[in-house]
Amino acid sequence: MLIAGEPGIGKSTLLLRVADLVARQSGRVVYVSGEETARQIKLRAERLGVSGDGIFLIPETALDVIIGQLEELRPALAVIDSIQTVYQSELDTAPGSIAQVRECTVRLMRWAKQSGVPVIITGHVTKDGSIAGPRVLEHIVDAVLYLEGEPFSAYRLLRCNKNRFGSTNEVGIFEMKSAGLIEVADPSQVLLARREAAAVGSVVVPALEGSRTLLVEIQALTNPTSFGLPRRTANGVDFGRLLMITAVLSRRCGLKLGNQDIIVNVTGGLRIGEPAADLGIALAIASSYRDAEVIPGLVAVGEVGLSGELRAVSQLERRVGEAARLGFECCLVPEVGGTIKSRGIKLVTAASLKAAITQGLRRQRATAQEA
Ligand SMILES: Nc1ncnc2c1ncn2[C@@H]1O[C@H](COP(=O)(O)OP(=O)(O)O)[C@@H](O)[C@H]1O
Ligand SMILES: [Mg+2]
Repeated sequence: MLIAGEPGIGKSTLLLRVADLVARQSGRVVYVSGEETARQIKLRAERLGVSGDGIFLIPETALDVIIGQLEELRPALAVIDSIQTVYQSELDTAPGSIAQVRECTVRLMRWAKQSGVPVIITGHVTKDGSIAGPRVLEHIVDAVLYLEGEPFSAYRLLRCNKNRFGSTNEVGIFEMKSAGLIEVADPSQVLLARREAAAVGSVVVPALEGSRTLLVEIQALTNPTSFGLPRRTANGVDFGRLLMITAVLSRRCGLKLGNQDIIVNVTGGLRIGEPAADLGIALAIASSYRDAEVIPGLVAVGEVGLSGELRAVSQLERRVGEAARLGFECCLVPEVGGTIKSRGIKLVTAASLKAAITQGLRRQRATAQEA
């Protein structure tokens, strides 16, 4: 299994905790560190409240020595932190080179399969996103997890990119504190913590992330293009989807977006891939463009079709339930959704995106361009 992420994001912090949990439940853990000294790791362990019982720390970078030790110790889990620091002496390239990283991973993978010992390797992603190594490793390992976070935010997402033996839809949400990466028990609440109740260009969407329902805030800003072609920027939503929604808003709902720059943002650094977020994106854009507030206490969910119709989404009841739990009063949903138990939240249905915009925005001042 590969855990990849930018330097300093918290891979070693997370894995030291994992090592501790496994050592307590299933037996010894070998932690190979090529980056930090035993003393540095001990300091971190103290900070995290990890006793170190059952964890064998090996400050080593030569792969032959590492595999020799693993053979001898036969642990319940082995952690190699990081794959960029280990090297195989037969290859004459430097540690961290593509050839080394690939060769070392293949050997560790073979050892893991033959011994039955799970091996976790960490890999650094470089700033430009091309992982100096890990991307070329994705096809070798059984599972790839990315630890991600926005700069200046303490929140970290552990996202599954590939999994040969299970779902890739799960996300873990953590907060970096001095005691380590602490699981966030109520992500929806955290994601909406800084949101103003009635804001222009901001819509809350009950999205599905694996087995969880998360309330996420989608923000949009439209601004007249000052020069050249209008620009569209999608942070956290699919760019193609944004173009499609913009086209539907222009052609079916009468919004003149052809001379507007559009920026869409998902707050908290989340990415939403599902079409169920379409209505939220569209409503946020319409709200910003018309400078009209979204009805306070409203969440919106629905897929937008090319004729401007709203389409049903999966697991509506779960989504509505999460919105009700967090105190939202009203849920804007497609008319075709079928009947569901609404648990104290008002369901407002709309057949088309045009109708949904009328229902979802508070007051609408028609802009000069539109009139
Ligand atoms: N005393 C501390 N209090 C809070 N956070 C800390 C402390 N020390 C380190 N950190 C956090 O831990 C991060 C380093 O995590 P680390 O697990 O070493 O990352 P990686 O292994 O991915 O490079 C730092 O960027 C910082 O955010
Ligand atoms: Mg590290």
